[in-house]
Amino acid sequence: MLRAGWRQGRRADGTPYGFTCPAPRRYPHQWYWDSCFHAIVWRRFDPGTAREELRTLVRAMSPEGLVPHTVFWSGHARWRRAPFYATAAPFGSFATAHTQTPVLGLAWELVADGDGEFVREGLEPLARHYDWLDRERDPDGDGLIAILLPDESGLDDSPKYDQVYRRMSHYRPGYFWLVERHRRRGYSSHAMVERFDHHLEDVLVNAIYALSLRALHRMSGEPRFLRRAERAEAALMERCWDERRGLFFDLATRSERRIDVSTWSSLAPLILPSLPEDVRRRLVEEHLLDPRRYGAPVGIPSVSMEEPSFRAGFDRFRCWRGPSWVNTAWLLVTPLRELGYGDEAERIVRSLAAAVDREGFREYYNPLTGKGHGARDFGWSTLVVDL
Ligand code: GLC
Repeated sequence: MLRAGWRQGRRADGTPYGFTCPAPRRYPHQWYWDSCFHAIVWRRFDPGTAREELRTLVRAMSPEGLVPHTVFWSGHARWRRAPFYATAAPFGSFATAHTQTPVLGLAWELVADGDGEFVREGLEPLARHYDWLDRERDPDGDGLIAILLPDESGLDDSPKYDQVYRRMSHYRPGYFWLVERHRRRGYSSHAMVERFDHHLEDVLVNAIYALSLRALHRMSGEPRFLRRAERAEAALMERCWDERRGLFFDLATRSERRIDVSTWSSLAPLILPSLPEDVRRRLVEEHLLDPRRYGAPVGIPSVSMEEPSFRAGFDRFRCWRGPSWVNTAWLLVTPLRELGYGDEAERIVRSLAAAVDREGFREYYNPLTGKGHGARDFGWSTLVVDL
């Protein structure tokens, strides 16, 4: 299936590319975090292709260090969709001017699998990317990076963003205005934060940021990456951890208002081994495995089943408001195993594997019934094989 989604060639200026599109019909371009997840699976049976997928992502990086959310290698965005992509101009851009959850450091280390040459090849571009995030995306200097548009986390329409973006939410037509405002200010986070105050310090994004910084530190030996990882982890504990509810919450706008909606992002810091063990166990026991919250029959729901906004099934414009996604399980199952919840971890993996057997590699699954929804032949759902 991944081979069928593989696209390779040369852009008009001669730049070679090779990537897996997330789903041949619905998502024909290259997406940042999708490509990282694809490469993580490719590495199991075709490491050369895994490397080429990550190299292609790096070739799309701006000289300053922005890795685009979406790259249009082999064709432009379709005209009807084009104005809604966060590009510098409504038509004709080669890539978007916004980014996505920074998984590249983590993916590079896994794909390198100890190969020094590939590690060295990644050091300069990875440092450029993570230095850019530190310089451009931490306007208040607290060690947590900010997203400017809701889809920069990859969780486009998550209900946790409703109170911040309202009519400009990703699934509403007003999203166009959010994009337009950024175009007019050249996507400068400092200008946007100053003028509009719609940014957000997202828990999932920062947990992955810290994990990737640690990977980059292991690969490069550069102390600044470790320092930043530790700062982000400490800030997550100090600012985002809600001791009473036992969950991590995003901080919205300059006032750092906590968005107390329980989504799987609230559980994401589980992936950070440096966090206190009792905090991680609370995430698992009070939330992840609780049958009223995230302990669903199939996979891990993207929103707690207790939340009023929880929707298990299909919605044409909204997909992060309840369904189970395979990348979520891929991230959370490893820490579950490490903390000694092996049986529960296997149950989650088996429930998803059974859904895939029955329904194929779909974009997401109903956590109550296992029914598959959204795109067919969806690339990162193959992470279940990796698990
Ligand atoms: C959807 C998802 C996003 C993903 C993209 C491509 O927009 O919300 O996370 O990167 O599709 O698969």
